[in-house]
Amino acid sequence: MKKTFLLAGLLILSFALPAQTPTYLDDTKPIEERIEDALSRMTMDEKVAMCHAQSKFGSAGVPRLGIPENWMTDGPHGIRPEVLWDEWNQAGWTNDSCIAFPALTCLAATWNREMSALYGKSIGEEARYRNKNVLLGPGVNIYRTPLNGRNFEYMGEDPHLAAELVVPYIRGVQSNGVAACVKHFALNNQEVDRHTVDVNLSDRALYEIYLPAFKAAVRQGNAWAIMGAYNLYRGQHACHNRRLLNDILRDEWQFDGVVVSDWGGVYDTRQAAYNGLDMEFGTGTNGLTENSANAYDAYFLAKPYLDKLQSGEIATATLDAKVRNILRLTFRTTMNKNRPFGSFGTSEHAQAGRTIAQEGIVLLQNDNNTLPIDPNKTKKIAVIGENAIRMMTVGGGSSSLKAKYEISPLKGLQDRLGAQVEVRYARGYTGEISDGYNGVSTKQHIRDRRSADELTAEAIKVAREADFVIFFGGLNKEKHQDCEGDDRKQLGLPYNQDSLITALAKVNKNIAVVIISGNAVSMPWRKEVPAILQGWYLGTEAGNALAAVLTGDINPSGKLPFTFGEKLTDYGAHATGSYPGQGEVTYKEDIFVGYRWFEKHKIKPLFAFGHGLSYTTFSYGKAVVSAKTMTRDDTITVHIPVRNTGNRVGKEVVQLYIGDIKSSVPRPEKELKGFEKIELQAGEEKLIGFTIDKEDLSFFDEEKHAYIAESGKFKIFIGSSSSDIRSTVDIELK
Ligand code: GLC
Repeated sequence: MKKTFLLAGLLILSFALPAQTPTYLDDTKPIEERIEDALSRMTMDEKVAMCHAQSKFGSAGVPRLGIPENWMTDGPHGIRPEVLWDEWNQAGWTNDSCIAFPALTCLAATWNREMSALYGKSIGEEARYRNKNVLLGPGVNIYRTPLNGRNFEYMGEDPHLAAELVVPYIRGVQSNGVAACVKHFALNNQEVDRHTVDVNLSDRALYEIYLPAFKAAVRQGNAWAIMGAYNLYRGQHACHNRRLLNDILRDEWQFDGVVVSDWGGVYDTRQAAYNGLDMEFGTGTNGLTENSANAYDAYFLAKPYLDKLQSGEIATATLDAKVRNILRLTFRTTMNKNRPFGSFGTSEHAQAGRTIAQEGIVLLQNDNNTLPIDPNKTKKIAVIGENAIRMMTVGGGSSSLKAKYEISPLKGLQDRLGAQVEVRYARGYTGEISDGYNGVSTKQHIRDRRSADELTAEAIKVAREADFVIFFGGLNKEKHQDCEGDDRKQLGLPYNQDSLITALAKVNKNIAVVIISGNAVSMPWRKEVPAILQGWYLGTEAGNALAAVLTGDINPSGKLPFTFGEKLTDYGAHATGSYPGQGEVTYKEDIFVGYRWFEKHKIKPLFAFGHGLSYTTFSYGKAVVSAKTMTRDDTITVHIPVRNTGNRVGKEVVQLYIGDIKSSVPRPEKELKGFEKIELQAGEEKLIGFTIDKEDLSFFDEEKHAYIAESGKFKIFIGSSSSDIRSTVDIELK
C-alpha cells in the first residue's frame, strides 16, 4: 500500500513541478551557455534568417523559440522616426518625435568625458524606450579633410581625443541594454565615391590614426556592435574585409560583438560568410540597386548563403559563428530581463542636450571682450543670417531626425533678451531650402525670393542701426554642405557670406560672427570682426545654448576637435593631392593628419586644434615631473598648477602633448596624450596631474607589427591648445 502511495505521490509531483526552464531562457545561466543551448535548438533556416535583414531596419529572431527580433535605429544624434517595412521615409507615427542631441563634433569639442557619458545614457534611454536594441552610432571616422560631408557626425582629427570620448558614450548607451554600433569601420573618411573608393595607406597611419578610436570602443568601451564601412580597403569591401574584421577586430582586439554591414555595403556571399560579417542590411537585390518581391530572401546572406551551406560549398561553422555573435547581442539586450525601460522626449534629455551644447560651443576670438553681450548696455541687437532661423535637425543624411522641437538661434536670443533689448532680424543671405527629409517636414516656409543685393541692403540697414550685430552663418545640411553622400566643394562659406560679413563689419564694429557647421570654414574676414564663435549643430536646444553663451549666462569652454586652416592646401590630404582619388585613394600625408601636418610643415592655422577661449583667463605654472627618466615598466607623473586669473568661474581643458625628440621613424612634433577639463572659481588654483607610460611614448612599428617605445628623450608639452603651450619638460626613456 505504502509503495503505491509513494509512487502516486511522485507521479503527481512530477506533473506539478514546472518543467526545467530551458537554459537559453534561464537568465541565471551564463550567456555563453545560453548561446550554446539556443544554437543547438535552431534549424539551419532559422540561423540563416538571423544573419540578414527582414525589413529596412529589422532582422529575424526565432519565433518558434521566443527569441526576439533585432531592431536597429539611426543615428548618432537621436532616434530616427519609425519607417514602414521597406521604406526610408518615415511612417508618420505620432509618438516618435525625439530629442535631437548636438552633433558629435560638438560633443568632441566639449573635451569632457562626463558629457560623453551623459550623452550616451540619454540617447540610449531614448532608443530603449522606442524598443530598438541597436543604436547605429556613434561614428568615429577621423577628420582627414575639411570637405568630408559627414565630419559633423564624427569626433575630429585626433585619435586620442576620439578614443577617450567614444568610450563613455558607448557605456552610457549600453547601460540601457541597447547596443552601440560604432561606425564606419574603417577608413570612411570621404563621401566622394564612398561605395567604391579603395583606400590605401601605411600600417602606421592605419594603426596610429584611423584605428585607435575603434580599438578603444572595443577594448575599453566593450562595444556590442560595429558597423562595416562602405569603402574598400586593399581591394576588399570593408563590410567583409578579412584584414579589418578577422585579423584586426576579432583576432587582435578579441571583439565578441556583432558586425553589421552598412546599408547596401555587402557584395559577395563567400566573402560575407568567411570574412567576419554577421548581419547584412540594406542590400538592394537585383544588381544591388532595387528591392524586389521577396527582396530579403535574395540577400547575399539569405538564400544564396543557405544554398551554399547545404551544398557544402561553404562551411556551416561560418554560420554558427555568426549566430553565436547575434545571440550574444540578444542576451545582452532584448533577452536581458534586468535592463531599464528608458524614457523618450523628456525635458531631462533636452536639458542634457543643452548642457552638452553649452560645453561644446567654442569661443574662437573675442577682441576687446566684445562678448558677452551686456543687455544693460545694449538697446538694439541686429540678428543677421539664414542660420539664425534655419532648422538643422532635419536633413544631412541618415542622422536626420524628427525632433520634438528645435529652438533656433533667433528664438533663443528673443527669449533670452527680448524683454530688455530690441532684437531685429534680417536674412542677409539665402541658400538652398529643402522642405524636409525622408518624409519629415521642416514645417518652415523660409524661401526668400529677394535678390542678394536686396538681402544685403536690408541687412546693412538693420546692422547700421543696431548697437550690436550677431551674424549666424556657416553651412547647413543640404547636399555638398554638411550632408551624407557628398563632400563639400570648397573650404569657404557658401552663398556669398564672406562679402556680407565684410560689409556688415564696415557699418558696425560691434559684431560677433557665429559659424553653425560641422566642418572648418575659411575666414577671410577674420581680422575685420572682433568676435567669432563656432556654434556646431546643437540640436533641440540650439538657440537656448547659443543665447546662454552669447549673453554670458554660460562661460564658453569648448575646444576645437579639428584644425581650422586658412586654405585647403594647408591640409595634408590636399597638399599631397591625395583627395579624393580616382577609384582609389592613397593617404599620402600618412600619419600627418590635422595639426600633425600643420606643425610638421610650420603652417600657421587660422585656429589651432584644441583652441578655445573663455570669458575668464587661466594661468599655468611650471610642469613638474616625478622623475626625469623612466623605464618601459614604470610611469612618470607630471603635475602643473592652473589658476583662474579672471573674475568669473570658468572651465579650462588642460592638454598634454608628447613629442619624441629623436626617433628612427618620422614622428609628429607632438601628439595629444592627455587632457583634463577642470572648473575653477575666480582666483582658484588646482594642481592637475597626468600619468605617462610607455604607450604614450610609442609608435607603431610596421615590421614588428607592434607598438614600440624607443629609448631616448621626449618632450612633454602642456597647454591650453596645441599652439598655446604654457610649459614643457623633458624626460628620458631608458
Ligand atoms: C547609411 C549610413 C549609415 C546608416 C545606415 C542606415 O547609408 O552610411 O551610417 O546608419 O545607412 O541608415
